[in-house]
Formats: sequence, C-alpha cells, structure tokens
Amino acid sequence: MTIRVNGAEQSVDAPEDTPLLWVLRDWMGLKGTKFGCGIGQCGACTVHIDGSAQRSCITPVARVAGGEVSVTTIEGLASEDSLHPVQAAWLEHNVPQCGYCQSGQIMSAAALLDQETNPDDERISEFMAANLCRCGTYPRIHAAIRSVAD
Ligand code: FES
Repeated sequence: MTIRVNGAEQSVDAPEDTPLLWVLRDWMGLKGTKFGCGIGQCGACTVHIDGSAQRSCITPVARVAGGEVSVTTIEGLASEDSLHPVQAAWLEHNVPQCGYCQSGQIMSAAALLDQETNPDDERISEFMAANLCRCGTYPRIHAAIRSVAD
C-alpha cells in the first residue's frame, strides 16, 4: 500500500491492521514517534492525520493508505529552514525533562494551535489532558503553548 508521510508518498508492505506507529518506526525509521501504552491512553504516539492529532498506536495503517490522507510526524513538523513555532517555544521554555513523551506533546500542541489560535488556559488543559508526562512538565508545556497563542 501507499501512504503519504511528511509530504512524500511511500510504499509499505505491511498487513492492513498494522498500527501506523509500527509502520512509522519500523518500516520508515521515523523513531521520533514513541510507543508508550499501545492502547491509545498516553499520547506518546501522537501524529497528525490530515492536521488532526491522532494516536498512531491504535490507527491501522490501512486507514491512511492510498495517498489521499496526509500523515505528519515530529520529523516533518518543522519547515526546511525553521522550527515550527511550537518546537521553538519548547526550547525557549526548556519544556522536556526525560523527553520521552515530548514529541507527542508537541504534535498535540501544534494541532491545537492550528485549529484555535488563542485557546484559553482551560481549553489548553482540556486539549492536552490526554497527553501524559510522568516527569510532570505540565506547567512548562502550558507556558510554551500560551507563548505561541495570539
Ligand atoms: Fe499510543 Fe500511548 S502509545 S496512546
């Protein structure tokens, strides 16, 4: 099957029910998308599917096959010459601690800010609630998102 990832169509020889997460990591070598729980609960595996934050661990690859659906991973978030504003804010606010969950956090935050340019604190908390961080970087995540919001 063919899937479009980070703007490029790629051919993948995987069973249709293979989680997108494993296709990204094992077939394509895109290791920035992380495995946390595997059951859609932690957010470590978050990618964009047509701009929406989705859990790649519970997304069968067949759902994004055919080249019509666009998948973006953390590796494809920045433009050629600059970081995505959310990535830059993450650096500015020194958000990560261990870092494991952070690509998922960034992908969720970027999707939120693409949809809503000025989410309030309550909305940020609501949207980001499903991205877990065992280091407890939530205050810095919140501050970074606020700094990007209008
Ligand atoms: Fe997908 Fe936890 S690894 S939500």
